[in-house]
Amino acid sequence: ADGAAQAKVDDYFSTLLAPPDPTLTAALAANAAGGLPAHDVSAMQGKMLALFVQMTGARHVLEVGTLGGYSTIWMAHALPPGGRIVTIEANAHHAEIARANIAAAGLAAQVELRIGAALDVLPELDAPFDLIFIDADKPNNPHYLTHALRLSRPGTVIIGDNVVRGGAVADPASTDPNVRGVRDFLSRIADEPRLQATAIQTVGEKGWDGFVMAVVQA
Ligand code: DHB
Ligand code: MG
Repeated sequence: ADGAAQAKVDDYFSTLLAPPDPTLTAALAANAAGGLPAHDVSAMQGKMLALFVQMTGARHVLEVGTLGGYSTIWMAHALPPGGRIVTIEANAHHAEIARANIAAAGLAAQVELRIGAALDVLPELDAPFDLIFIDADKPNNPHYLTHALRLSRPGTVIIGDNVVRGGAVADPASTDPNVRGVRDFLSRIADEPRLQATAIQTVGEKGWDGFVMAVVQA
């Protein structure tokens, strides 16, 4: 099926399974008004992240790459009482919009937004997190994995977004820094005895993409 048909299915699914939430709709509108790239997860992917938070009973969530806070709000909605998300954003303009979106969603108390390069902020964080979502600059993914492992415990779920790269992820000769970052990330996951992982391709309103999901082993 073509992209338009896949987007139509996403629209059908999300209308059915995730009726418009005013805080999420407002966040997307604020992101667009602020000129942010539309690199947010889809509604169904956001709902999936929320269900992962619920399934794992995560109380401490780490997000690398906030953008406008759309995925942050999805995950924060699924936290148990007392749960918290630390989310890191390198771009001050993106972070300003994310802070407003998170406050407008009534989630300021649950979300700690850290502004700065993730490689500077991650060393300051204390372990462990229960779920870690890596969704920032792809060339640094291997470094983010190193930090994620340090900030994990057995059972921690690590999810990486955007691992398909238009299909180029399967090209070992690619010189695209995003592809190389994702391939290095995946090979380190594969080689890491503390991790069991899968990678799932996705279609829909965001086009052909996918995510990797790993669980830290005992
Ligand atoms: C890009 C990055 C993302 O995190 C995303 O979800 C989609 C696209 C990008 O850099 O192209
Ligand atoms: Mg992404």
